[in-house]
Amino acid sequence: METVKIGLLGFGNVGTGVYKILKENGADISHRDGLDIKIEKILVRDVRKKRSIEVDENVLTDNVDDIVKNPEISIVAEFMGGTEPAREYILKALSNGKTVVTANKEVLAKHWPELEKAARAYGVGLYYEASVAGGIPVIKVMRESLQANNVYEIMGIINGTTNYILTKMSEEGRNFAEILADAQQRGYAEPDPTSDVEGFDAMYKLSILASIGFHARIHIDNIYREGISGITVEDINYGKELGFAVKLLAIAKKQGTSIEARVHPTFIPMDHPLASVRNSYNAIFVKGDAVGNLMLYGRGAGDLPTGSAIVSDIVTACQQKGRNLYSTFYNEDRISPEITMIEDWETEFFIRLTVKDEPGVLAKIAGIFGKHDVSIASVIQKDHNRGEVPLIFVTHKAKELSMGKAIEDIRRLDEVIKVENVIRVER
Ligand code: NAP
Ligand code: HSE
Repeated sequence: METVKIGLLGFGNVGTGVYKILKENGADISHRDGLDIKIEKILVRDVRKKRSIEVDENVLTDNVDDIVKNPEISIVAEFMGGTEPAREYILKALSNGKTVVTANKEVLAKHWPELEKAARAYGVGLYYEASVAGGIPVIKVMRESLQANNVYEIMGIINGTTNYILTKMSEEGRNFAEILADAQQRGYAEPDPTSDVEGFDAMYKLSILASIGFHARIHIDNIYREGISGITVEDINYGKELGFAVKLLAIAKKQGTSIEARVHPTFIPMDHPLASVRNSYNAIFVKGDAVGNLMLYGRGAGDLPTGSAIVSDIVTACQQKGRNLYSTFYNEDRISPEITMIEDWETEFFIRLTVKDEPGVLAKIAGIFGKHDVSIASVIQKDHNRGEVPLIFVTHKAKELSMGKAIEDIRRLDEVIKVENVIRVER
């Protein structure tokens, strides 16, 4: 039996999940893996705070050196969140010879090369299964189980908060602000929801996933990002009429050395496997040249699902000689040099306009689409209301930049009252 003493940086949702799992399953892990994993110290901001789990007061500390410089501790698990001081503490832990396990996608997406270089330099490990899609073991699958493949497409619902909001909007017909306020009250959404609803959280996760999947660093600066705060119940209802469900998708596609990576609200056909992923569930749809289509589904957040990934990483680290396991790329603090990022990708579009109900308007708009090489697949014109009429277009595949120019021109038409929304469509 090997006794492994660990230190936790953070004791919030994820930290308490790790604590509960080790309490519940620690004996099984000892029996199965010959490991006695003991929580030696836990870093928090406020040691006097009332907590849902009572721990011995000698275990809690507000001094990080009690963990990162503690000779008894060999593994440090970080789930404080944010970039600083998380980055600084992770580096301190690595430089003191501790293997680090983290759930923090933001610090990893922004500072991966620095952290991985430090891990290599000090001969310790850096593990991050929990950083993407909580309890879904997608990192391990991408790093280990799909090595035989050229992975060329990753498409995922990797933010539970936005999937919950979009599901409720779609099923209950209530608007974004109302559902968000409700989700915040119930503790499903953060008090500051920006990172989730504006797509930053999914962008960090996509940077990690695409980098592993494509064996190249895909920096967050090279990922297009758009959140869900502009999605309305009207968009969702028109989408339903056309046979679409709306999801905040993280999409990365590779063709040769050209890569596109984007996070945005997306219409997908109702019969697409991702369309049935409801509420706060996550799913990742991967295409590999040998394996074909693959989908991983499960809980992307929560104390126990995320704790599951953390504790599994701790066990894996203990089983690894030298406790280290590295990515195949690590030295670029920007996009990998062999990669070209595509900004002018092709996709179908849903465009919703409110226009004046006058003769010739449709022809003018169609003319602008034609001028910019955008081919229309279908048009819906709804009942007019006091001289205004909603017009919905779905296009065939068109170039992103051409569509941007077409929308600029359409916005300038006197007959166009408002460009209500433009939503990309993936089949
Ligand atoms: P949380 O509930 O807010 O917990 C954060 C913990 O870190 C708290 O215990 C807090 O101490 C401590 N902390 C924060 N800043 C600190 C500082 N400067 N010094 C010392 N302690 C500090 O957060 P969480 O939901 O567990 O999430 C943590 C991380 O896991 C984030 O990176 C998040 O993105 C990631 N993650 C979360 C989930 C999830 O389901 N929640 C899933 C996957 C990944 P106090 O308790 O004293 O305030
Ligand atoms: N805020 C994240 C989500 C939690 O909503 O998916 C897990 O990363």
